[in-house]
Amino acid sequence: MAEQLDKRVYTLPTNAEKNQLLAEKNKEALLGGGEKRIESQHAKGKLTARERIDLLLDDGSFEEIGKFVMHRCKDFGLDQEYYLGDGVVTGYGTVNGRLVYVFSQDFTVFGGSLSETHAEKIVKIMDLAMKNGAPIIGLNDSGGARIQEGVVSLGGYADIFYRNTLASGVIPQVSAVMGPCAGGAVYSPAITDFILMVENTSYMFVTGPNVVKTVTQEEVTAEELGGASTHSTKSGVTHFACPNEVECINNIKQLLSYMPQNCEENAPVEPYQSTGDEKVKELHNIVPDNPNQPYDMRDVIGPIVDGNSFMEVHKNYADNIVVGFARLAGRSIGIVGNQPSSLAGVLDIDASKKGARFVRFCDSFNIPLLVLEDVPGFLPGTDQEWNAIITNGAKLLYAFSEATVPRVTVITRKAYGGAYDVMNSKHIGADINYAWPTAEIAVMGAKGAAEIIFKREISQADNPEAKLQEKVDDYTNKFANPYRAAHRGYIDEVILPENTRKKLIKAFKMLENKVDSLPRKKHGNIPL
Ligand code: HXC
Repeated sequence: MAEQLDKRVYTLPTNAEKNQLLAEKNKEALLGGGEKRIESQHAKGKLTARERIDLLLDDGSFEEIGKFVMHRCKDFGLDQEYYLGDGVVTGYGTVNGRLVYVFSQDFTVFGGSLSETHAEKIVKIMDLAMKNGAPIIGLNDSGGARIQEGVVSLGGYADIFYRNTLASGVIPQVSAVMGPCAGGAVYSPAITDFILMVENTSYMFVTGPNVVKTVTQEEVTAEELGGASTHSTKSGVTHFACPNEVECINNIKQLLSYMPQNCEENAPVEPYQSTGDEKVKELHNIVPDNPNQPYDMRDVIGPIVDGNSFMEVHKNYADNIVVGFARLAGRSIGIVGNQPSSLAGVLDIDASKKGARFVRFCDSFNIPLLVLEDVPGFLPGTDQEWNAIITNGAKLLYAFSEATVPRVTVITRKAYGGAYDVMNSKHIGADINYAWPTAEIAVMGAKGAAEIIFKREISQADNPEAKLQEKVDDYTNKFANPYRAAHRGYIDEVILPENTRKKLIKAFKMLENKVDSLPRKKHGNIPL
């Protein structure tokens, strides 16, 4: 008996051997789907899931969760094929010293496809992110649902979508698409706050080119159908199209720097040294003498904000409106500006949707809003009307109206018609409204107005053209200025352009402790 016991003791592994086993498993997990597949990933110009995390997080800050998780599927030969981690690397770490949660899909393991356990790992860190109030970053590179698993992988997706929705407005959610993202997989990124794509190596679509060909007979490449350039220009699905993965990850870091950790906090404030005199002379000559001549609203934004702090969002989509983050005296702000150099800065369906989504993000996360206004009105036409400019324009109106963050408007030139109301007017809750002396605030342009209200007088005049001009001049003198609105208090102050930065720093400082709330409700019913 004693002899038998002795033998049993001798066959048990020693502690050193147990440690060795752990080391081997750790090494195996780091290799994902194996060296060959890693090489193939690199050959496509893509980084691995772990290399991406290394780039994103501060050195040595990554703590992995679920490294040894394996799938449970026994069908279609999967009982013979297991990889530690099951195609997704999950955990937490810091970006510039601030906590974030991250999942990074590993294309070298079953093409990064989402199995039941892969989904469980993502869900686990989403739950941690919610409970601890920190952003979640998803690095997506996946062939979609793990085909061998059937409905459990679909269930896994739905578990993620559900959490994306609950987390919306509570913690910032950022999705980078760094490879394929097909089928239902697109809907998790779509619910998150920002999507970044990498040019030429990533694509997103609900159904791929083959299905498109079968159903609609259209021949289209994956890149044309759902590549970064398509989604950053045509559909607006992605907010950033990045030339490569390194740039994509740098953009995520910069984006995070403007955001708070969650909806209960304020965004971090950068150290700021006042120059004493915040006058900006170069703003003087930006608005041309001719009111119909375009200028670039970015030339107004640049000198107003701190240094090079402006980060434009949705740059290539609906460029008749400019949105993005910046810092003013070190504080994070969101900027919405009409863009006179594109379609004269008119508001159309795409611009309204782009602006509304940005305003709602800023309001969700306590980021004050600055509106720079030069808008001739809403875009007329059957295309706009039939595609619901009414409903879509209302999105922007609704988004501004329900925003409770500090809100300041500067009218640089035109503020015409309904667009005057929509673009953060005093009437819908803006806190401070400035106008430059070049501002024109009226129901419509002088010519259109004169043609309507003096129609009979003009047609009956001996010289109708001269009469029209007289009426246009009259209307222009009365309304093509900021003073009617200032007399009514709709404009708080008419300011020289060069004083804009100074005024805005003071206004946002004054509004720093603003407390406002909406009437008690379950939630509003924004015109979707
Ligand atoms: C299991 C998959 C997989 C998947 C890829 N692989 N997609 N395994 N389930 N969905 C595996 C491949 O078998 C291969 O394994 C490895 O990943 C790499 O795939 P390749 O085809 O060799 O790579 P590539 O040529 O780069 O093509 C990538 C791809 C293609 C475009 C993603 O694999 C593809 O079309 N996959 C299927 C996409 C799809 O239809 N998914 C389901 C969508 S429906 P080996 O062993 O050779 O390395 C969906 C529903 C969700 O997602 C609904 C939620 C509501």
